[in-house]
Amino acid sequence: MVREMFGERKFPREPEPDLVMDDPEQVAAYSYAGRIDGVMSAAYLYHSAQISQTIHGCAKVLDLGCGPATQLGQVAQLNPDISFLGVDLSATMLDSARKHAAALSLPNVGFQVEDITQLEGISDQSVDAVISTMAVHHLPTRDLLDKCFQQIARVLKPGGAVYLTDFGRLKSLKSVLFFAYMNAEHQPHLFSLDYERSLRAAFLLDDFEDCAGKFLPSSVKVQSTFRVPFLVMLKTPSRALPPALVERLRELRRTLPQKYRSDLDELRFFCKLGGVDPDPFG
Ligand SMILES: C[S@@+](CC[C@H](N)C(=O)[O-])C[C@H]1O[C@@H](n2cnc3c(N)ncnc32)[C@H](O)[C@@H]1O
Repeated sequence: MVREMFGERKFPREPEPDLVMDDPEQVAAYSYAGRIDGVMSAAYLYHSAQISQTIHGCAKVLDLGCGPATQLGQVAQLNPDISFLGVDLSATMLDSARKHAAALSLPNVGFQVEDITQLEGISDQSVDAVISTMAVHHLPTRDLLDKCFQQIARVLKPGGAVYLTDFGRLKSLKSVLFFAYMNAEHQPHLFSLDYERSLRAAFLLDDFEDCAGKFLPSSVKVQSTFRVPFLVMLKTPSRALPPALVERLRELRRTLPQKYRSDLDELRFFCKLGGVDPDPFG
């Protein structure tokens, strides 16, 4: 396993077969995995905490490829003074997102159909922060990743904040299968399949470094989980959070089922070793 992870990269990128996620069954499986007792709950909570640290004090935040708004909903709940706009190309996803936001009674979130490589409806320098989770691996080509980063640079106000995270391409297919099917018995098969496809479609850590260097301000640091770029994070420096928000994040960690609390703690550990600092639950 270790040699597989650290050895030479043996497989090429395979773009996602579904560039935009609009199959209702796929949307349902994906939304289900993000619930508080779902397999992605640890990752969502980790990113919600990191995002909160990154955007604290912002007025208007744009979420690229918001999907069913599981992530965005949690971030918006934790940061009620910030106004959020989630964009996605899939009408089915945005339907699910609107229902989710209504169920959470979130007054501070809106949604809009947008292609994240064009952002036609978003004005230049109009947002205080751009966030994005697990979305850019859906872009079919490296050229479109460049276009997406160009758009981030265009819509962000000077000095704006960025938190963009996605999978990084692993070295071998064995590692891809290990991660994709590690929780197979706790998740719908469609979700495991989607996970495998996402990992096969992931861009390289080098691609993220190259794009950030070309288009984003130097305040954006590119980091990844320790040694293995399972997760890549591009972020501006963290800001101090009010004690009540830190306490709320800790409480959410405590309410995770034991298995997912361990997943969260592993994620915190490997991100911390990768230099992602400070640990918001710390
Ligand atoms: C895996 S989901 C991630 C959703 C959400 N950010 C999360 O963390 O749960 C990726 C989303 O990106 C959307 N997407 C793919 N290509 C897109 C594009 N070019 N413009 C806008 N959204 C896109 C898909 O429709 C899908 O909803």
